[in-house]
Amino acid sequence: MSFGRMPIANGFLSPAEFGEEYFYDLSVAFCSDCGMVQLIEQVAPEKMFHENYAFFSSTSTRMATHFKEMADGVMNEYLGSVDPFVVEIGSNDGIMLQHFRQAGHRHLGIEPSLNVAQVAMEKGVQTICRFFDEELASEILAEHGPADAFLGANVMCHIPDIHSVIAGVKLLLKPQGVLIFEDPYLGDIVEKTSYDQIYDEHVFYFSLKSISHLVEQHGLEVIDVRSLGVHGGSMRYVIGHKGARVASESVAALRATEERLGLHRPETYAQLRSNIERSRDELMEQLRQLKAQGKRVVGYGATSKSTTVTNYCGITPDLVEFISDTTPIKQGKFSPGAHIPVRHYQEFEADYPDVALLFAWNHAAEIMAKEESFQGAGGRWLVYTPRVEVLG
Ligand code: SAH
Ligand code: TMP
Repeated sequence: MSFGRMPIANGFLSPAEFGEEYFYDLSVAFCSDCGMVQLIEQVAPEKMFHENYAFFSSTSTRMATHFKEMADGVMNEYLGSVDPFVVEIGSNDGIMLQHFRQAGHRHLGIEPSLNVAQVAMEKGVQTICRFFDEELASEILAEHGPADAFLGANVMCHIPDIHSVIAGVKLLLKPQGVLIFEDPYLGDIVEKTSYDQIYDEHVFYFSLKSISHLVEQHGLEVIDVRSLGVHGGSMRYVIGHKGARVASESVAALRATEERLGLHRPETYAQLRSNIERSRDELMEQLRQLKAQGKRVVGYGATSKSTTVTNYCGITPDLVEFISDTTPIKQGKFSPGAHIPVRHYQEFEADYPDVALLFAWNHAAEIMAKEESFQGAGGRWLVYTPRVEVLG
């Protein structure tokens, strides 16, 4: 399926930069052999991850809690050796590794986006500003020795040369070491029609089947899985050297669920495509109706996901006045492609719109809880996943 010409999802820009904005063809395909769903055209990582990367993990308090729990879980279960060593790729502003640092564990973050890496370093989190691959894995091994745990959240699916990453992990892990990573789950995308998970940074849309197929080629195997509510539905995979650990029952259970969902059948994706097209048509119809009624609509959360929605659906600034966002680097800029102004959260608060289009729907619980006064003032939420509707 093609979503058409797309800009860089996190490429918020100023009017002076409109003329040279980069576009590529966002299209996604399913492989019926290995079960992988992935982008066809891939944007060069250096165009997305650099010294002006716009996504700071710690903007969400829910995610901060989530990663504290994950760090505690890893410390309790997998760091039993003397002087254990933890590596995390995509460590961003140190949201997770800071807990290993505080516990006094040897740790190393690999984070190619310099601005977010610097925030981590300021917290005392050991960080290398590079892209992880097999070559870097052998350098880390030579300098620090093997790892007890290799972690990655919302990063594994970002890396086009995924085989190099898995080969590096294989090299770096102790015999009892584990790779633990989580990413948005394909099953949730299919079930919720959450097509906005599809954008340049997300090269892969993983399932247990595609992950098993991938890691088994490198002498590794999936030993545990856990579905997570974060980011609109994610899956955490725990992977060990083949035969080193006993696989939990959750693995067989998820395999059966994926069969039931039809995740490995092409028809599932034909259906997904028509669901996506319907979702687009309904959202545009809703926005046009609101405009015809003279209602003010403002976007909430200038997420990377919103870039797919605004550009695929054709949402223009006359339908959505601006997008409110708490991230300083995005404020005062314009959204990629659609060029909707991104404004400080205070502008949302100062003059509530009639309707807020919830682009940050993956943080809905956190946001709705803190926006009681918007709702109290008669404001309503427009959501588009799992279906297009105005709430309240
Ligand atoms: N783990 C954080 C950040 C996810 S955003 C969280 O879940 O909130 C993805 C991060 O991965 C970005 O900070 C990006 O710079 C980083 N990244 C991208 N390619 C990478 C690679 N090859 N190796 C390590 N990190 C990478
Ligand atoms: P994410 O969906 O990729 O996590 O990005 C969330 C974006 O939404 C990020 O730019 C910050 C913004 N945001 C707000 O503006 N207000 C909020 O309350 C939350 C949770 C996020």
